[in-house]
Amino acid sequence: MKRPKIVVVGSSNTDLVVSVPQIPAPGQTVLGGALQTVAGGKGANQAVAAARLGGDVCLIARVGDDAYGTVARANFEHEGLDTRFVFVTAGVASGVALIAVDQTTGENSIVVAPGANACLRAADIAAASAAFEEAKMVVVSLEIPDEAVFAAVEAGFSRGIPVLLNPAPARALPREILEKLTILTPNQTECEQLGGSEALLAGGVKTLITTLGASGVHLEQLGKSPQRFPAPSVIPVDTVAAGDCFTGALAVELARGEPLDRAIGFACAAAAVKVTRPGAQSGLPYRGQVTVQ
Ligand code: RIB
Repeated sequence: MKRPKIVVVGSSNTDLVVSVPQIPAPGQTVLGGALQTVAGGKGANQAVAAARLGGDVCLIARVGDDAYGTVARANFEHEGLDTRFVFVTAGVASGVALIAVDQTTGENSIVVAPGANACLRAADIAAASAAFEEAKMVVVSLEIPDEAVFAAVEAGFSRGIPVLLNPAPARALPREILEKLTILTPNQTECEQLGGSEALLAGGVKTLITTLGASGVHLEQLGKSPQRFPAPSVIPVDTVAAGDCFTGALAVELARGEPLDRAIGFACAAAAVKVTRPGAQSGLPYRGQVTVQ
């Protein structure tokens, strides 16, 4: 099958990860394991997930002109992404995420220093208009400024391309944007931060897919009965980027023409593989490693 074209607009980070016996509470210091440096960032994770799972992916993002940005761009090339629109901001640090991963549960806590991600502009999306030619799906997340988010949603919507928005980290979005989305994919916390599923559906969202970790996925669509999809049972090692893996996988399957229920099943299976592996992009599966039960 031809690899469907997918445009991903979002962040690129370098993840500085420490495995810890417990996530520190405010004011608490914990001693962890060795520092791991891993490619991350929600946008880049989604792009790499989609590419490994069969998409022809163009990433629109910004990195700094530092060593982390150089390594990130080389990594995107290695993953086979179209990097024409990975812009470099001079004199600004690339995005960095400080991550603690619980050694027992695989749960995580993340602090992001956005760096060059905060420099992505609506003008960058306009400059990347060639990326949208023949695209079957646009994927957007929220570690970038509103103006870039809105321009990316508009770029997809105005061309009739389905737009999948992963509202992470959560922040309020205007109705004019929510109405232009094909799918919104929050996790449970993000869904609550955005006012809950009823408010989102009343606010213009047509298809809401809430990821619930080990409890699977909840699908809600206006005028239809909600549906629950189970997650495969796995022993979690690291939940970082599980949601990004789900979003990237969902985008690929829908871009390949799969119906929504099958696409969700595949995305759940892909995310389950991710949580058994350490790291963000280092833990993302390839297509042949995903088995739908
Ligand atoms: O979703 C996981 C990602 O969130 C990490 O890779 C980190 O960079 C932050 O963006």
